Amino acid sequence: MADWDGVHLHVVTGKGGTGKTTVSAALALALAAEGHRVLLLEVEGRQGIAQLFDTSPLPYEERRIAVAPRGGDVYALAVDAEEALLEYLELFYRLGRAGRALKKVGAVDFVTTIAPGLRDVLLTGKAYEAVGRRRAGRLEYDTVVLDAPPTGRITRFLNVNTEMAGLARVGPIRHQADSIMGLLRSPRTAVHFVTLLEEMPTQETLDGVADLTQAGLPVGGVVINMVRPPTLRQTDLQAAAKGRLDRSQVTAGLVAAGLSDEPGLVDGLLAEAAELAERVALERQERRAIAAAGRPTYELPWLTDGIDLGGLYELADTLHRQGAA
Ligand SMILES: Nc1ncnc2c1ncn2[C@@H]1O[C@H](COP(=O)(O)OP(=O)(O)OP(=O)(O)O)[C@@H](O)[C@H]1O
Ligand SMILES: [Mg+2]
Repeated sequence: MADWDGVHLHVVTGKGGTGKTTVSAALALALAAEGHRVLLLEVEGRQGIAQLFDTSPLPYEERRIAVAPRGGDVYALAVDAEEALLEYLELFYRLGRAGRALKKVGAVDFVTTIAPGLRDVLLTGKAYEAVGRRRAGRLEYDTVVLDAPPTGRITRFLNVNTEMAGLARVGPIRHQADSIMGLLRSPRTAVHFVTLLEEMPTQETLDGVADLTQAGLPVGGVVINMVRPPTLRQTDLQAAAKGRLDRSQVTAGLVAAGLSDEPGLVDGLLAEAAELAERVALERQERRAIAAAGRPTYELPWLTDGIDLGGLYELADTLHRQGAA
């Protein structure tokens, strides 16, 4: 049993730069393990997934980008609002070639640019379509992971179809908007937050959790990313915080390690230890604040060599061991 069994759409948000794309990919790998099919979607038009997996930019086509642990496949798609609009025109108006002609004259680009809300309608619509798509009598994907817009925009993004439903009272567009909101508000969706043990991302996470809750959208878990294990023991950290580390012991340690014991070096190490103690104390505070949100929480280590495919598998395995997938 994993924490999110029954969830078909995982939405990953968080403050910019905290690791949304990385965590989305790791989660997709973890969910795909043991023979599942997972689709990883990105909607910010930046080809972050292709960069992460070190492949050429993704065309508007679902491509297999990784094989999961113990067999399973991760597919990826960089959703393009214009292409999604053409799909819609085809679906609702059977425009087909005429739609392509609209694109040629720039009308499609025009429409998605003047109405940024429409862009989000199209992007969430694509996620909805992928979640429900069937092939040979069964769901094409077991789960879909959406590398979503950052915390500041996530509620509006997910709620855009409510606005749409307010505009269209009846008809296919209204029906589509209602269906999308039906999925996004249901327990089949979970919106996860990525954060760091720092004040700003944590505050954004807590605000985001409150916003989503108020909007009736399903909050998932919190992934604390880039966690650095303290390099000192608890007792030494406490001493360092009070400026009471034993100077002679530090000097003796340097000598034992065959290093210079000049006073400048010892002073530098003592200052670093004090800084570390301060950071660890702050991190403890952030951890408490995150725990107060009462959501399942996962911790991913800071990988010192950066993120390559091996690193992604490592993060996926950590998520799996912590019960996220
Ligand atoms: N656990 C980790 N250990 C080490 N580096 C990491 C870790 N997670 C993410 N990174 C690195 O941090 C940077 C930001 O990560 P990522 O691109 O996933 O963030 P993001 O939230 O998607 O950013 P953006 O807001 O720009 O879309 C990248 O260089 C990534 O390789
Ligand atoms: Mg990203």
